Amino acid sequence: MGLLGFCDLALLGLLLNAVVTFCNGGTTSAFVRPVEKTVDMPLHIDVFQAPPGYNAPQQVHITQGDHVGKGVIVSWVTMDEPGSSTVLYWSENSKLKNKAMGTTVTYKYYNYTSGYIHHCTIKNLKFNTKYYYEVGVGQSTRTFWFTTPPAVGPDVPYTFGLIGDLGQTYDSNKTLTHYELNPSKGKTVLFVGDLSYADHYPNHDNERWDTWGRFVERNTAYQPWIWTAGNHELDFAPEIGETEPFKPYTHRYYVPYKASGSTAPFWYSIKRASAYIIVLSSYSAYGKYTPQNQWLEAELPKVNRKETPWLIVLMHSPWYNSYNYHYMEGETMRVMYEPWFVQYKVDVVFAGHVHAYERSERVSNVAYNIVNGVCAPVRDLSAPVYITIGDGGNIEGLATDMTEPQPKYSAFREASFGHAIFDIKNRTHAYYSWHRNQDGYAVEADSLWFFNRYWHPVDDSTSVQ
Ligand SMILES: [Fe+2]
Repeated sequence: MGLLGFCDLALLGLLLNAVVTFCNGGTTSAFVRPVEKTVDMPLHIDVFQAPPGYNAPQQVHITQGDHVGKGVIVSWVTMDEPGSSTVLYWSENSKLKNKAMGTTVTYKYYNYTSGYIHHCTIKNLKFNTKYYYEVGVGQSTRTFWFTTPPAVGPDVPYTFGLIGDLGQTYDSNKTLTHYELNPSKGKTVLFVGDLSYADHYPNHDNERWDTWGRFVERNTAYQPWIWTAGNHELDFAPEIGETEPFKPYTHRYYVPYKASGSTAPFWYSIKRASAYIIVLSSYSAYGKYTPQNQWLEAELPKVNRKETPWLIVLMHSPWYNSYNYHYMEGETMRVMYEPWFVQYKVDVVFAGHVHAYERSERVSNVAYNIVNGVCAPVRDLSAPVYITIGDGGNIEGLATDMTEPQPKYSAFREASFGHAIFDIKNRTHAYYSWHRNQDGYAVEADSLWFFNRYWHPVDDSTSVQ
């Protein structure tokens, strides 16, 4: 026994017990990425080159153009003159070309003047159909294609890609390449904010918005990207006279917000196949009585899980994040909206902002009131899984510093760049995988079977990594 008496032993036992209990978090990956500097790709390399030809359309990108997936917004930029905002489109099995008329906008930002930014909404397309579309005029037309999703329905399989905080570094290019070559083949990208990081350059050099648009065109022209606004979209710079938040972003990236009754492009919803996707803005007012709050309160009861079983939320700033970066920045929005996410059984929340990967357990932290002091996250099968996927590879580099010990709410975390795939099989099951850039294209570094919260509420998600 030596010098320790019974009380000392009891105390030691309690302490050890406490340590064991407190350390009962998830997995911090054993994979440690070599620390390398994240470097922007230089302007002269091929990913940034403008297409040949006078006034040739560039930075072509598409997104969903209505609430159900029968519409597509086509956007592109011409540099020399306005040209035409018309899109010609035809289905794979038809020679008949249809026309949709668009609009052109420009903007100025400090000493930068944008090219002619065209936006054209094509409506009333057939579901599950491949369409070709042509933009530009004269010698400089360019043709791309997309496939519309199947009609909305509860058992429609559909595969989404997840990318966040992409930027335009060599790592960004790796992430995009890995997504493109992933055999799981996402059909639509859910992008969780922070696109170009143009604000990293002097005076928010908006040329970098153009280079980013050219870099991602190889994917955004063919797959809809569902946009979420991040802090790097704010471009709020009163020191150079730029006081209109989100100016470049809102001129360049149109979203179908009016189709879901939203009054601003920062929060909106779409249905796509068997998914109902709600996009929120971490950087717009969300408190009681604000437009976003009113919209979300009215929106959640409208989700019919018998029609769209999978309820997915996108936002930029994560609510559950155990890295020492942006720690608790999402806390005030969590306080406002988490009770609704539990009540309406949101399946999964994807966020970015933290430049690493993390997946939570199903937890909630909604018991607190100012009297009871109950403020710890608890296991909750009605709660979403929270996934931080801000690991696209931007210029700010990797978030490597983690809070220790790993909190209980954190199921898996790793400081690597990558992307994820959310593969909906039917109304009850979806398969989720995360892919780090260091691996081969098919390797899953983290994965999970999701059991739908509405159709399968009693089972917990089971990790199969
Ligand atoms: Fe961010």
